[in-house]
Amino acid sequence: MDVEDQVLAELDVSSSIGDSYEFALKINADHQDVIGILKSLHGDGYAEPLGEKTISLWTLTDEGLNVASDGSPEFQLYSAVPNDEAITLTDLQALVGDSVSKLGMGPCMKNKWLKKDGDSLVRVASDVSDDTAVLLREVASSGTATDNKALALMKKRKLVKEEKRKSYGFGKGPSFKRKRSKKAVGLTKDMLGSKVDMPPGMIHWSDTDFKAVNLKAMGSVVGGGNFHPLLKVRAEFRRILMEMGFEEMPTNKWVESSFWNFDSLFQPQSHPARDAHDTFFIKDPATCNSFPDEYYDRVADVHVNGGYGSIGYGEGAFKKEEASKNILRTHTTAISAQMLYNLANQEGGFKPKKYFSIDRVFRNEAMDATHLCEFHQVEGLVADYDLTLGNLIGIIKTFFAKIGITNVRFKPAFNPYTEPSMEVFGYHPELKKWTEIGNSGMFRPEMLRPMGLPEGVRVIAWGLSLERPTMIKYKINNIRDLFGHKADLHKQQNAPIARF
Ligand code: PHE
Repeated sequence: MDVEDQVLAELDVSSSIGDSYEFALKINADHQDVIGILKSLHGDGYAEPLGEKTISLWTLTDEGLNVASDGSPEFQLYSAVPNDEAITLTDLQALVGDSVSKLGMGPCMKNKWLKKDGDSLVRVASDVSDDTAVLLREVASSGTATDNKALALMKKRKLVKEEKRKSYGFGKGPSFKRKRSKKAVGLTKDMLGSKVDMPPGMIHWSDTDFKAVNLKAMGSVVGGGNFHPLLKVRAEFRRILMEMGFEEMPTNKWVESSFWNFDSLFQPQSHPARDAHDTFFIKDPATCNSFPDEYYDRVADVHVNGGYGSIGYGEGAFKKEEASKNILRTHTTAISAQMLYNLANQEGGFKPKKYFSIDRVFRNEAMDATHLCEFHQVEGLVADYDLTLGNLIGIIKTFFAKIGITNVRFKPAFNPYTEPSMEVFGYHPELKKWTEIGNSGMFRPEMLRPMGLPEGVRVIAWGLSLERPTMIKYKINNIRDLFGHKADLHKQQNAPIARF
């Protein structure tokens, strides 16, 4: 008979199980199993709870067991001292060992069992009893002791420990039967057939005992979604940049005019990057004309005639037709330009500012394992009087150190809108090589001065992709596993911030 059958038989014969623990002992079953079965029988109405009780069970600790078998240290020490003779401390220690003599000495003195006589010890009491050991033996055999105070004291001395045991009483439930019949959980198509020609082995629904639906059961947990790895790294970068005093730029538009994306940055209209091979042009509407008039004229002028130390790109180098073309922005520097123009033309005039953005850009490039035609750019700029290349190097080092890239190098580079320009390289200790991680520079006067920024104002800026550090952090080799529907949102949820 299995445990459930034994439980049902007991309920049948005695109408109740007074104490689940006693019953488990009687049938030699595990108490927790018996409780589990009683609770499950209760669920089906076979049993009904009558009550529960909790009792304290006292047991001996390892040390308590030692004391119960060998006597307490004080009793052992006392017993080792001869009846009418003094014994030196050294001899006594040799007899009982260090630990007994150390632990027993205090109580022996306090109880006035022994006293000191020079270097020796003699008995004072003639007849002592080892109450502690006696009590421990009582606890060991009965699970409790009559003397509560002594019990508390032994607990303090870590000789005994208390455990609580909960047991239950159960009676017969309203649906009690001697044998439990498994209830059906749900209705099936087969149960619905005609009762007359039910295939053998099938039971008609009207003859089936159904399990009650528990409307109070907790629903299963619904997943609340996951953050995309790019979003997580973006949040981290954003936090770092805000901590450094940067304000976020409003980059929430993807269609941009060529004017803001290229011309305002003093990028020549003949530059190959404007080619349809690198830039996505918008068909409808293909153009726009909403630039500040005077500013547009100054930009056109600097492109053709130069100024601020530049000779410009020459006659015929600037056409409105080219400037007004709508494109998907190729870099967020298009927004930086607009923000700088606003800074120069705001009420009260220019004020120093630090800006950043992290948003999407588009390039009409061939796609491969590391390139897509859209990605995210992290961009930062500082506009202030008399900034130097040293400030740029300093701010870049600080930013990259905060994202975990502590070893950076700079290499002279070219951008149409910055002079000087520097590529940023970071040392990757795992790959053991220097990899390019960003681009930077000081915006050219040909870009800043037509905007109306005062002469002494310099703007230092840098940019990097968000995908590259994210791929390194999450150990993703193919960009298609990061961008788009194939991204594994569970990948290394708790990976530390990128380490190059
Ligand atoms: N716009 C540059 C790029 O797309 C990055 C950059 C930003 C470079 C600011 C210099 C200054 O790579």
